Amino acid sequence: MKENCFDTFSRLNTSLLLRFIMRKIASYRSNKCRLTVFLLITAFFFMILIAMYSCNGSLCLKAPDLTPVAYSDFEAFLQGKVLKHKFNISAIDRVFELDLEDRDILIYLHIQKTGGAAFGRHLVHNLDLTSKCMCEPEKKKCDCTTKNKKYWLLSRHSTGWVCGLHADWTELNDCVDEWFKKNEPPTRTQRRYHYITFLRNPVNRFFSEWQHVKRGATWKAVRLHCNGRDATLDEVPFCFSGPDWSGVSFEEFVSCQHNLAFNRMTRMLSNLSKINCYNKTNRNEKLAGEIMLKSAKENLLNFSFFGILEEQEKTQFLFENTFGIRFIESLKPKPITHVSQLNITRAMHDAVVDKTRLDIQLYQFAKDLFLQRVESMEAHLGYTVEDYFNSARNSAKKVEKVVPKEEEFPEENEETEEDDKQVQYPSKATVNALEPKAKR
Ligand SMILES: *[C@@H]1O[C@H](CO)[C@@H](O)[C@H](O)[C@H]1NC(C)=O
Ligand SMILES: *[C@@H]1O[C@H](CO)[C@@H](O)[C@H](O)[C@H]1NC(C)=O
Ligand SMILES: *[C@@H]1O[C@H](CO)[C@@H](O)[C@H](O)[C@H]1NC(C)=O
Ligand SMILES: *[C@@H]1O[C@H](CO)[C@@H](O)[C@H](O)[C@H]1NC(C)=O
Ligand SMILES: *[C@@H]1O[C@H](CO)[C@@H](O)[C@H](O)[C@H]1NC(C)=O
Repeated sequence: MKENCFDTFSRLNTSLLLRFIMRKIASYRSNKCRLTVFLLITAFFFMILIAMYSCNGSLCLKAPDLTPVAYSDFEAFLQGKVLKHKFNISAIDRVFELDLEDRDILIYLHIQKTGGAAFGRHLVHNLDLTSKCMCEPEKKKCDCTTKNKKYWLLSRHSTGWVCGLHADWTELNDCVDEWFKKNEPPTRTQRRYHYITFLRNPVNRFFSEWQHVKRGATWKAVRLHCNGRDATLDEVPFCFSGPDWSGVSFEEFVSCQHNLAFNRMTRMLSNLSKINCYNKTNRNEKLAGEIMLKSAKENLLNFSFFGILEEQEKTQFLFENTFGIRFIESLKPKPITHVSQLNITRAMHDAVVDKTRLDIQLYQFAKDLFLQRVESMEAHLGYTVEDYFNSARNSAKKVEKVVPKEEEFPEENEETEEDDKQVQYPSKATVNALEPKAKR
């Protein structure tokens, strides 16, 4: 009874592979088949070798996943995946016993076009606290102090831009402590700062910034303060020559090499002293990028909290359970944004990916950290995010609704530079900043 080697093989299941091979060796005589058996044995042991190399213990018996493996955060982003990172348990399990009446202060680092303005408004209008912010309808700022004149929140909508318009980590780190010492009664002895921020898919964030600039935003009053001085026009020239860059095409926007939109999240979260600030003399750009990314990750790990625009529910869940304070009304996912209405071509998308490589890596790192925190919080609480919103959260005490109606909040896109000027910059920088020539 003569049968083909391959037919026999395909009818056998893999657990019998070894026995099958032994039998074949013993029974087959034809040269052709001997060669096939030899190859099979070689392949088999080769696979065992690979398996021993690439996995340990029980994992080795799993069927191989044939989808391409993302080997970096960048690759994973392109595949719509999130890689797992190893974090210290202390970076994952975070709960702060907040005492906003005394020791604790929230410092809100607001990166442009991350959905941060909406969250900033929630912080002043929508938190269930003993000392609520006093807000007047026509004013852009609220008074967020306790009865003994102690601030508990530094942000655009409370203190104003006291450390500069959209102050980054480098600016805040240099300014915050000094500002509080100057502006609070000297009787205050202890302060614990909790940095918080928001991140967003960097490609969408970039398109959103382009749209905003196209409509006339410049943020030219940003100080880019670092190592004791503001960046000069030589160091960071403006991308436009007129009063603003309204109507800018995508090609023009993405071609300006000084565009601060590139890797904005990474830059704004890193300690820029580490790369000699905005001074590019003798700089190795690739190395500088790596240093910035590493620093941004370190700083982010030290933030008490950050949210992810694409994850509103989980952001609220994590915020409320990390700090033990609640929003009066739940955050709502943003309705259709300007970005989702754009017609983005493949070429445009690829150009943005190329210009936001650092942000993509930072975002992937942050998203994994965020999701691991949510998972760990769920495990500690004993219920899921869904259960939390469906029942657990509502069974807690009902809070009085004092939230202004949605229409009283102008959308983020409607917040103009005029508004920003009203909420006070430090010193005379505002005046100078109005003319590009006068400052950076
Ligand atoms: C993890 O925590 C330990 C002690 O708290 C610290 O020494 C170590 O540097 C941390 N590792 C990372 C990657 O942050
Ligand atoms: C972490 O943040 C706290 C609060 O802002 C600060 O005091 C501390 O120096 C930071 N640690 C590092 C390693 O940056
Ligand atoms: C920022 O970087 C500079 C330069 O490396 C360093 O001296 C400084 O301590 C860093 N600041 C913080 C708060 O880590
Ligand atoms: C920039 O850095 C170089 C050295 O790296 C220094 O010689 C130069 O003076 C710096 N420029 C400014 C404007 O500080
Ligand atoms: C996008 O493309 C669609 C269909 O091609 C068109 O109807 C729409 O007006 C375009 N939108 C913009 C903003 O150009």
